[in-house]
Amino acid sequence: MSRKILVTSALPYANGAIHLGHLVEYIQTDIWVRFQKMRGHECWYVCADDTHGTPVMLRAEKEGITPEALIERVHGEHLRDFSGFLVGFDNYYRTHSPETQALCNLFHARLTAAGLMETRAIEQFYDPVKTMFLPDRFIKGACPRCGAADQYGDNCEVCGAAYAPTELKNPYSAVSGAKPELRASEHFFFKLSDPRCEAFLRRFTRAAGVLQPEAANKMQEWLGTEGEHRLSDWDISRDAPYFGFEIPDAPGKFFYVWLDAPIGYMGSFKNLCDRQGIDFDAFWKPDSEAELYHFIGKDILYFHALFWPAELAHAGFRTPTKIFAHGFLTVDGAKMSKSRGTFITAESYLNAGLNPEWLRYYFAGKLSGTMEDIDLNLDDFSARVNADLVGKYVNIASRAAGFVARRFDGRLGSPDTALPVFTAIREAAPRIAEHYEARAFSRAMRDIMALADEANQYIATAKPWELAKEEGEDAALSRVCANGINLFRLLTVLLKPVLPALAARAEHFLNVAPLVWTDVETLLPEGHAIRAYEHLMQRIDPKQIAALIAANRENLEKTATPQRKAAPAEAAAPIGIDDFLKVDLRIARIVEAAQVEGSEKLVRLVLDIGEEKPRQVFAGIKSAYDPATLKGRLTVVVANLAPRKMKFGLSEGMVLAASAPEGEPGGIYLLAPDSGATPGMRVQ
Ligand code: MSP
Ligand code: ZN
Repeated sequence: MSRKILVTSALPYANGAIHLGHLVEYIQTDIWVRFQKMRGHECWYVCADDTHGTPVMLRAEKEGITPEALIERVHGEHLRDFSGFLVGFDNYYRTHSPETQALCNLFHARLTAAGLMETRAIEQFYDPVKTMFLPDRFIKGACPRCGAADQYGDNCEVCGAAYAPTELKNPYSAVSGAKPELRASEHFFFKLSDPRCEAFLRRFTRAAGVLQPEAANKMQEWLGTEGEHRLSDWDISRDAPYFGFEIPDAPGKFFYVWLDAPIGYMGSFKNLCDRQGIDFDAFWKPDSEAELYHFIGKDILYFHALFWPAELAHAGFRTPTKIFAHGFLTVDGAKMSKSRGTFITAESYLNAGLNPEWLRYYFAGKLSGTMEDIDLNLDDFSARVNADLVGKYVNIASRAAGFVARRFDGRLGSPDTALPVFTAIREAAPRIAEHYEARAFSRAMRDIMALADEANQYIATAKPWELAKEEGEDAALSRVCANGINLFRLLTVLLKPVLPALAARAEHFLNVAPLVWTDVETLLPEGHAIRAYEHLMQRIDPKQIAALIAANRENLEKTATPQRKAAPAEAAAPIGIDDFLKVDLRIARIVEAAQVEGSEKLVRLVLDIGEEKPRQVFAGIKSAYDPATLKGRLTVVVANLAPRKMKFGLSEGMVLAASAPEGEPGGIYLLAPDSGATPGMRVQ
């Protein structure tokens, strides 16, 4: 019985590169989809770039290009990376599309008609310099609980406290550095608190199999007990300037990116349907018999298990059959880290010449279908790929192929249909299929490798290389080789969802049509001609991994002490004392120092110079100083320099530092007074 299946992976943000963490999800989904296709089901896999929102808008601005140009470029990069890892989307689209916009408007109209949309005024932080409302993550300040500086507007990375941005102490805009003001504005809300939504969500989350047990528990937590009314309405609009879709009949109001993103799944599918003549409604109507699966990371469960099904149900569409959440990738047991070099982009992996199928196999061996995190252990990675793929699987083909070519003109003899390992594979196949279906890929890989072990044992016992040396053993040799080649073919069927490119090379070598799952029940007949064996897969050299890590390690080391004396800088023209006294030099204490996101050179300093309010100054000293070491130090500042609006905010002064002439090596040296000086003292 053929099923109709629509599968999605989460839509990656269009303002960042694909990294190995993302790939856990896209590889997991792709393996599952390839398995379904091999089983003969009608299965469509769609995805898209998640293109809207403030970060995309600001990044485009910083690069001096339009958001449209930015998302086009990133779309190309993402598609290149995904293709590089053999992720076979049927459509990879973008949320910034006419299809998604039309669907957003339809959702909005239907939810409004259902009485589930409401507008009300709320107060929010506004950046008066940048003239825009600030999303929580663009507001920083001191944590209201522990006082840690430079914390984001929603939670403290130091003490873990969660709070509203309005609770931050000394808040400032991460966009301009300005002090934000509270301003009121009308927003659109999806009424998740409506009893209809709550009742629906209770039914939806309790339905067997829709959510993994861990996810269902989380949902119970979010929903609370009946009568508790824990769900609050969801703010789905943002004010201009915003890169997104303008809400119909609401000039200057835009749909929030998380409203249009899941609708982007439908938009991508709609685009595919229109091009290929697929019946869109058959997949999305409320009583649809098609299956709908969303693969996501555990961090976005809330959006997919609460908001999204509630929207679908009340806008007249079907709801997801299942939501599959996975855990996060760690590398060598720790969070991916730029300084350790374990924040590995998809591009750098491929550029280092590493085989994408090594990673696909390794992830498959780790994925269990639960929300547990999965670890990429770099030593284990090489060891496992080399032992399993090269040592156990590819080896079977290479051991038999040479004899077939040299002794039998490339033609197979008749295989032993009763060979126990053939039976073992045939009998294991349904169980392996169940593992694939349940996303228990690690079990599938374990079972397949156990069969590969058996196959190797058979060949080790049959010893074709000895038969080849003996007179009159041609028939036996031919049979053993036919068994070996057939074993390789059967294992290829089982591994094909994970190793599609290797399987394609194997199909060429075996001279067979693309393998499907039922091919595991048949054997290649006597007389079948195979092609010359070509190397199928290289071993990993652990040195390649070391080089990859080194390439990804961001150099955080400070500039070393100068190697040679810098040539003295040319002297400036003489001035009188009056000219000098025009410069108001003051002692300043650095009360805060922080990296400036997106700047190669700048450090953001907050300086106490004895005035009522501390000043913000941007200093080009990042190459020489780790901000963490600057806090508390005294230095000298030009206090009467006219404030300058910089890309990252207002700079209200300049700190003094010595440096070698432009272009010469030598580093940067911040001035410091002798001890005893206090903030605000005049320097003259
Ligand atoms: N744009 C949203 C998703 C919208 S879906 C309607 C988003 N984008 S993302 O680029 O941040 O993440 C895309 C997917 O990759 C998410 O499912 C996320 O969980 C997953 N991962 C991102 N980093 C990951 C790891 N380090 N490990 C595993 N998965 C990770 O969220
Ligand atoms: Zn704190």
